[in-house]
Amino acid sequence: MTRVTTTVLDRIGLLVTNDPALGAGPLGIVHDASVVTDGSRVLSVGPSGQIADQRVDVEGRCVIPGFVDSHSHLVFAGDRSEEFAARMAGAEYAAGGIHTTVAATAQASDAELRRIVTARRAEAARAGITSIEIKSGYGLTPAAEARLLRLGREFTHDTTFLGAHVVPTEFTGRADDYVELVCGEMLKAAAPLSRFVDVFCEVGAFDADQSREVLRAGIAAGLIPKIHANQLGLGPGVRVAVEMGCVSADHCTHLSDADVAALAGSTTVATLLPAADFSTRQPYPDARRLIDAGVTVAIGTNCNPGSSNTTSMSFCLALAVRDMGMTAEEALQAATTGGAAALRRDDIGRLRVGSPADLVVLDAPSYLHLIYRPGVPLIHSTISARR
Ligand code: NIG
Repeated sequence: MTRVTTTVLDRIGLLVTNDPALGAGPLGIVHDASVVTDGSRVLSVGPSGQIADQRVDVEGRCVIPGFVDSHSHLVFAGDRSEEFAARMAGAEYAAGGIHTTVAATAQASDAELRRIVTARRAEAARAGITSIEIKSGYGLTPAAEARLLRLGREFTHDTTFLGAHVVPTEFTGRADDYVELVCGEMLKAAAPLSRFVDVFCEVGAFDADQSREVLRAGIAAGLIPKIHANQLGLGPGVRVAVEMGCVSADHCTHLSDADVAALAGSTTVATLLPAADFSTRQPYPDARRLIDAGVTVAIGTNCNPGSSNTTSMSFCLALAVRDMGMTAEEALQAATTGGAAALRRDDIGRLRVGSPADLVVLDAPSYLHLIYRPGVPLIHSTISARR
């Protein structure tokens, strides 16, 4: 039997474990630490100087768990920078822009799309993202949605069926017929390739009843429900999320007191996507209000061509602290354990014995620098577990 080579990441100045049993505070901080892995799992967390087959000296840098990005639309082709520029000049964001990407994605061959997504996933890894959720939603036919999910599956098991992203133009005026297709033939093709079902509950996309129908059908097919809720204005999305037992309500930009109370009384994670609010000139969600009410909060990049074309979790953290009332510690947790909760995963987002060896070495002495030095590429290296 071949023995697996072990590696020690040694001389870590500040290690974030996210396990209070291992270190100080909720982040479980250990100073002058080392972590031993076998490339797949964390074998031990201890003081500097632990021994392994190989030694990597990180020279006092900060090490954090890899980011868990629980909301991305990574599988798309095309460019909507003109739409972005128009918005910066005063135009409003609307769900309808999705059609442009549906058309561009349909034009791309499987090989082309695979090349694009491979590059985008590599970019996300360079940004410190070791776990990612990937949605469909730029196909909108049974075959096209299945194609996007099949491709997504090449990169993650956390794939989400989002056939209910927008009503396709050929169904204009017949949204209910499209919902029937989503809940029938499309779901049948998508369910074996998906872990989650999602719906964009918003003016210009799907209303509360249509959203319930999509989620109910997805749940019946064995999928975990999620929802795009309250992105562009107040609406029923969050209430539907809680009522349907969604694992997460994503966006939560516009919330009434009743929405906050509903989330606080539920297990639904509020996934905040500040890069989308940046790019659509929406107000930022009030994370402080949610956290103070006891809601679990996640932060995701929402990488997509329309509302948030970024893989930079550091950028999202900086916005969260600067404009959403979060502390740096809360923001870091939201991008690690919060993301894990939004994916119903308890194995990722922490560094303790048995965790996947997903670590990020920062070119900085502390995670605070991610916010203190915005825009600076501080990800020294991303180590992803062999899976
Ligand atoms: O999460 N809200 C719906 N979906 C994306 C935007 C998609 C697009 O504009 O292409 C979002 O912001």
